Amino acid sequence: MSTITPRQPQFNLGEDLPTWWFDRDITKTLVMTAQSCTFPEGERFFIRSVRNFQDKVKSPTLQKAIRGFIGQEAHHGNAHEDLNALMASRGLPTRKIENFVKNGLAFRERIMSPERRLAMTCALEHFTAMLAELVLTDPEFLKGMDTRVRALWVWHAIEESEHKAVAFDVYQETVGDYWIRSSQMVTTSIQFMLFSLMHFIALYRSLEEKPGLWDTLKGLGYFIGPTSKTTKLLPRYLSYFRPGFHPGEVDGAQERARALKWVSEQLDVPLSA
Ligand SMILES: [Fe+2]
Ligand SMILES: [Fe+2]
Repeated sequence: MSTITPRQPQFNLGEDLPTWWFDRDITKTLVMTAQSCTFPEGERFFIRSVRNFQDKVKSPTLQKAIRGFIGQEAHHGNAHEDLNALMASRGLPTRKIENFVKNGLAFRERIMSPERRLAMTCALEHFTAMLAELVLTDPEFLKGMDTRVRALWVWHAIEESEHKAVAFDVYQETVGDYWIRSSQMVTTSIQFMLFSLMHFIALYRSLEEKPGLWDTLKGLGYFIGPTSKTTKLLPRYLSYFRPGFHPGEVDGAQERARALKWVSEQLDVPLSA
């Protein structure tokens, strides 16, 4: 298992940050903002889901990894809250989406078993691990993004890649049921797609001046087009359904080290490896 180091860099997302920070493209920025809105409460949900099973974990190595995981996810939530607040100051309804996510997760905590909630966390950690791999292996994916926001997403990707196996290992050690894990991935995937679209629409509808239809489709196609870099992650996504799957089968240590050096240089602060 890789070292899981919580780091707390400051991203200086100030007034001078352009509103359309992803390639000056409204649609691309809104797609990423929609994701960012789910992180503060989503990360807290992940932490609670893992904590429910922490006492049952016997392995001291995994116990240490859980502490690293909790530290990292807590900082991610706070950093995305800052980005969302900045977008709210530019007139976007990010608070409304954050509250919607908070209520939706509270509802799930009432109706789903702890085992299902942990499986849901594993499923979403697979999504974040895949996107992290894309960000770390293909710097072109975030090309044109304002350096400060890009440093935030790259830092998040590094730490997602570091802790990608923690929730899964906790699940395997304490629950281990293949049916719950795989069926939960199916329902979580459907919900992930639906809610991502819904949050995007909420942001898009709030715009006083909307981009033209072609620009909107081009921006969306960047993420969900048939030849987009994210669509090409499909085989990696499907690997989750193999009974013997483990998140650690893709390492990424070299890419993380390279990306960490880049973030340190951009923020002009040394970040611990
Ligand atoms: Fe995270
Ligand atoms: Fe994570």
